[in-house]
Amino acid sequence: MDDGKPPTDVYSNLGTVFVDDTKAIIFLMYVSFGICPTRSVMLVNSTDDGITWSRPRNITDQVGKDYATHPSPGYGIKKEHEPAKGRLVVCGHGYNDGVGIVLLLSDDHGVTWRHGAFVQGIPFHNNTDGDFAPAECQPVELPDGSLYLVVRNQHQYKYHCKMTMRSFDGGETLPRRYMFLDRSLVEPKISSGLWYHNGTMFYSGPKSETERRRLCIRWSHDYGNTWTSGTEIWGDLAGYSTLMMLPHDTNHLYILYERGVRKYYDQVAFTKIKLSMEKGRNTL
Ligand SMILES: *[C@@H]1O[C@H](CO)[C@@H](O)[C@H](O)[C@H]1NC(C)=O
Ligand SMILES: *[C@@H]1O[C@H](CO)[C@@H](O)[C@H](O)[C@H]1NC(C)=O
Ligand SMILES: *[C@@H]1O[C@H](CO)[C@@H](O)[C@H](O)[C@H]1NC(C)=O
Ligand SMILES: *[C@@H]1O[C@H](CO)[C@@H](O)[C@H](O)[C@H]1NC(C)=O
Repeated sequence: MDDGKPPTDVYSNLGTVFVDDTKAIIFLMYVSFGICPTRSVMLVNSTDDGITWSRPRNITDQVGKDYATHPSPGYGIKKEHEPAKGRLVVCGHGYNDGVGIVLLLSDDHGVTWRHGAFVQGIPFHNNTDGDFAPAECQPVELPDGSLYLVVRNQHQYKYHCKMTMRSFDGGETLPRRYMFLDRSLVEPKISSGLWYHNGTMFYSGPKSETERRRLCIRWSHDYGNTWTSGTEIWGDLAGYSTLMMLPHDTNHLYILYERGVRKYYDQVAFTKIKLSMEKGRNTL
């Protein structure tokens, strides 16, 4: 899709990619601005492993105009466990020009969509530093069927670190009593990578409170309660990142990330990392 050049043409955000493996469909959900006064949530799909893509389908009316969100960078998930096994979950941010996050849900393999949990930002400081402003978010599913999200802390509410949230009802709610500011996951206001596999949660992002620099992968063997100091992937400037593993190869982790020397986005890099085992759990 050629979406032209902002701000004059139509343009799109980065979008969220996700797979329904029971139907062998890859989806990309994104928001399109520009043509219409309303932001439009669009969905394209591929049934041939990404070689060809459908025309965009406008699902704005399904999720509700007020929930026309920016699907976040990274990936969406298909729930593998109850509750709501099979549900597709996409996390988006930037609701109705305020800042907040919303989970978009589908229980019929991506045909129909609705909004689930919504967490609105609180503009304590009139949209400046210090506001509670959850932004770009990456969900994973844990073995008990709950969702765990790392969320960009856009206005550095209290600390220069990630927010984390949980959902125990398949994304219908993100209860306040399970929201945390994880001070060990420092961030310079950025989107981060998250991946869960067999008892290990991997996290990627710049290990800096202020600069997009020093990209590290860290891991947790207790569902995000504590994190290792991690391994540095790129010591110089680095920006957004996302993590993945292949379904039939549990020995490697992949990271796609922005990096550079002059700018943090000189290059987009893709690195394959061999995992090792320590007391029956994966490490780098
Ligand atoms: C998508 O649908 C919404 C709601 O009906 C509409 O306002 C908007 O113009 C549509 N956008 C596009 C790109 O067709
Ligand atoms: C996938 O794209 C095709 C072709 O545009 C469309 O007919 C179909 O409804 C789409 N499927 C979903 C689940 O969005
Ligand atoms: C909030 O910010 C807006 C835009 O910057 C400004 O016009 C307004 O006066 C501010 N309000 C307060 C109460 O500071
Ligand atoms: C999961 O971890 C266990 C040890 O805790 C290990 O024996 C098993 O091989 C791992 N399975 C996969 C698919 O990596």
